Amino acid sequence: MIDSFHRPIKSLRISLTRKCNLKCLYCHEEGELRSAQPYEISVAEIAKIARICHHEGVTKVKFSGGEPLLRKDLSEVIKALPPFKDVSMTTNGQLLEERIGDLKGLDRVNVSVDTFNPATYKRLTGGDIENVVRGLDAALEAGLTPVKINMVVIDGINDHEIGDMIRYVRGKEMVLQLIELMDFKEHSELRASNLRVIESTLEGLSDKTTTNTLHNRKKFKINDAEIEIVRPVDNTEFCMNCNRLRVTSDAKLKPCLLRNDNIVDARGIDQVSDAHALEIIMKAVRRREPYYRPRPIDGAYSRRKADTY
Ligand code: 5AD
Repeated sequence: MIDSFHRPIKSLRISLTRKCNLKCLYCHEEGELRSAQPYEISVAEIAKIARICHHEGVTKVKFSGGEPLLRKDLSEVIKALPPFKDVSMTTNGQLLEERIGDLKGLDRVNVSVDTFNPATYKRLTGGDIENVVRGLDAALEAGLTPVKINMVVIDGINDHEIGDMIRYVRGKEMVLQLIELMDFKEHSELRASNLRVIESTLEGLSDKTTTNTLHNRKKFKINDAEIEIVRPVDNTEFCMNCNRLRVTSDAKLKPCLLRNDNIVDARGIDQVSDAHALEIIMKAVRRREPYYRPRPIDGAYSRRKADTY
């Protein structure tokens, strides 16, 4: 499946529920509309979308939420997938230790950990960091590796902890992902740290730097710690290399995280023929366009306003 900007669709990001057991101050909720239906996508709908997409060349699936571990039937969801190369999940880790037995078939996990400071964690998420630490250990033990730590870097809140985070992942089967804060919430007091500056500082310390071709992400190796930088904001290359189709928790296909005006309803897709299902998926693929794109005239970035939130 290739969109009209010559971008192949290689990955699915499936939101399993809108429910969450934390209240992160910065959360983009995977771009789902507040008005989204309480309906939760069924195992059969996920299985159908996954099977068609797998057949059409998609190689990766990532589950997200809300908090995916709040889906009671998660093990059935995982079992219903065709053999993708990479099946992963982004979780806040609160229930990871408890539910580790339900994750057979999953290759690896990303865990959101912006800080190990209990007070800062409580302030940012409302939760208890101790549960996450136990979840991280359980994930390592279960071989859900590399365990990726998602750290959204926030000015003055956790940017001074990057060194501690690097020390934490060092020597473990873990990768630290430093993620640029996307400003979703109007009036939020949280400000993104300048990841370009952090990137060049780390580059100076790096023993080995590689660039991931997909998103043009920089990867550093510093004293046996692996660090990746994820910089989506105003990043035209990030969009030009986007190969992902999103599936919302109420069974809609979402061509772009940052838009809600081009969604395709896929509810009941399990009830239609494969040819019809592919047509529904292709409708969403055809609606894909890069959100940030270079303007050929002066090379400046063009940016649509995220007016759908
Ligand atoms: N900016 C950047 N990343 C975000 N995430 C959630 N909200 C934001 C935001 N506003 C990321 C976190 C989390 C994942 C599910 O989404 O890294 O781990």
